[in-house]
Amino acid sequence: MSTKIRNIPCLITIFGATGDLSHRKLFPSLFHLFQQDNLNDHIAIIGIGRRAYSNEEFRAQVKKSIQTHVNNTKHIDKFMEHVFYHMHDVSDAKSYEQLLTFSNQLDQQFGLEGNRLFYLAMAPKFFGVISDYLKDFGLTDTSGFKRLVIEKPFGSDLASAEELNNQIRQSFKEEEIYRIDHYLGKDMVQNIEVLRFANAMFEPLWNNKYISNIQVTSSEILGVEDRGGYYETAGALKDMVQNHMLQMVALLAMEPPISLNSEDIRAEKVKVLKSLRRLEPEEVRHNFVRGQYDEGTIDGVPVPKYRDEDRVDPNSDTPTLVAGKLLIDNFRWAGVPFYIRTGKRMKSKTIQVVVEFKEVPLNLYYKTDKKLDSNLLIINIQPNEGVSLHLNAKKNVQGIETEPVQLSFSMSAQDKMNTVDAYENLLYDCLKGDATNFTHWEELKSTWKFVDAIHEEWSQTPADFPNYEAGTNGPLESELLLSRDGFHWWEDVQ
Ligand code: BG6
Repeated sequence: MSTKIRNIPCLITIFGATGDLSHRKLFPSLFHLFQQDNLNDHIAIIGIGRRAYSNEEFRAQVKKSIQTHVNNTKHIDKFMEHVFYHMHDVSDAKSYEQLLTFSNQLDQQFGLEGNRLFYLAMAPKFFGVISDYLKDFGLTDTSGFKRLVIEKPFGSDLASAEELNNQIRQSFKEEEIYRIDHYLGKDMVQNIEVLRFANAMFEPLWNNKYISNIQVTSSEILGVEDRGGYYETAGALKDMVQNHMLQMVALLAMEPPISLNSEDIRAEKVKVLKSLRRLEPEEVRHNFVRGQYDEGTIDGVPVPKYRDEDRVDPNSDTPTLVAGKLLIDNFRWAGVPFYIRTGKRMKSKTIQVVVEFKEVPLNLYYKTDKKLDSNLLIINIQPNEGVSLHLNAKKNVQGIETEPVQLSFSMSAQDKMNTVDAYENLLYDCLKGDATNFTHWEELKSTWKFVDAIHEEWSQTPADFPNYEAGTNGPLESELLLSRDGFHWWEDVQ
């Protein structure tokens, strides 16, 4: 973070300020930005919630959350002077009148120049009503910029996403809407683009001539936790594939943009998402696998099956795992499968991309009986952050045997990573007015279309659930998806 945004005053209004996201991510991130001088004295934060708290009570809660999530809390009391609480009922018009008065008052007090950022850390059913009221009561009628930040899910299919979009577009222009996909704030996800476009060695090989397949995994050890109610309506397909997984695929597959400006990058992402082969029902059955976790053991502790989780239907057909093969119909990628896999209660917490290169044209070393190891480029997104290249080198013995070696680079060892949270990056971008790492409506349209076809097919056919034991890498069908094509998931590689 080199460019400081010290000169950008702003009123940040957080709806849902007493919720989990605000306490775990938003306040700690804002505090960290403040502490690093990336937020200035001309900043005020209004936390909005339904409960009756005084400023002092609310500040005490926020302070506690920050202390829990940030190691160094120097300047915390100074930061707290910028935090306020406003009791508010999002569906009550009167609340907005009061919010307007309070906002104008803070605007004066802190010299905020009418810049306003509204962060909706709330269930999407409130997005429309809040944005309508913000406009109707003049909160968006301001001399500075106005921006709306919203969390996913953005709709539950293309039709509902369109409806929601039309509603919020009554009050905010597309360029004022910042739709969060927190994966786009992860340093190593942002690094995909840098790796590809700032190095001469990858781009010439980045195509169907040299790459045999690309694997993108985001596996979790955690189960559905206390989110059963929401998860039942989403499942892994809508919760992870429609957004995070397809965003990573877009970054891996897009053409080089003509510049780093957000419209140019977005244009390339949209193009690639439009090139995703839409699946016919038959192809869904062949190319996509759904799973749901059964009971099992994680770190020696027995865990229940999904159907026994809180607020989950005991006969639920909601998938907690999705594995799929995506084909991108353009010149660069024709014939190269992109395999994606995401699930809860799997063996490890791993977010990783594996780019597997094709074999050399002629194996001089082992003739017919043994294959050379595949060249792999591995992008470790989490928990490790770094890149490694798996090559073949001469084994340290007489003769010409080869052995796999790795060239690796770890971001954590660079004394930087693991400190900057994705939310901090995204809040910072939003304050700067940089929408590159947010999801544009055009991207959403394509991803929903793709996912809707899969959901449609799955909703017609009952699932044979549960079909994988908690603590494993998922059902056998996920392995078969690759083995049919002569590949396998690269497990436990770094
Ligand atoms: C969220 C999903 O978007 O991403 C969660 O709603 C999931 O279900 C989470 O657990 C995973 O994020 P991360 O950053 O831990 O990989």
